[in-house]
Amino acid sequence: MPPLKLTLVVAVALVDTDNRILLAQRPEGKQLAGLWEFPGGKLEPGERPEESLIRELREELGITVKEACLAPLTFASHAYESFHLLMPLYICRRWEGFVQPLEGQTLKWVRPHELRAYPMPPADEPLIPFLIDLLGA
Ligand code: C5P
Repeated sequence: MPPLKLTLVVAVALVDTDNRILLAQRPEGKQLAGLWEFPGGKLEPGERPEESLIRELREELGITVKEACLAPLTFASHAYESFHLLMPLYICRRWEGFVQPLEGQTLKWVRPHELRAYPMPPADEPLIPFLIDLLGA
């Protein structure tokens, strides 16, 4: 069997001053619609992960993040049927602007212990215990 194509997606745990994490619901018409994910997206050719995340956060949420405010946390990895997803997760506590759902997505700020109540793509779900350990409940 040929190896699965590797797809790189970057994601971020945006954490507000109340220790809540931002989740975005994948909109209708997209693969995995209705599931909740950490914001982010696919790397474009030639982009570094941090550049990609800064672009995605501007496009999807209308916020400006400085590269120095993005700290790498861990990696998620999942073999979907047609590609293998590799997804570094960053954490970010400081940004400029107000978070807005610019792509029609529903947004929710949730406490770490509430994350399990939101159905997530299989790549994102294993990140939950990691975030609970890091941020507390
Ligand atoms: O967001 P986008 O549709 O570009 O992501 C490509 C694919 O990566 C999705 O179809 C999904 O399978 C996967 N993905 C994921 N978790 C995320 C973002 C994307 O599993 N947080």
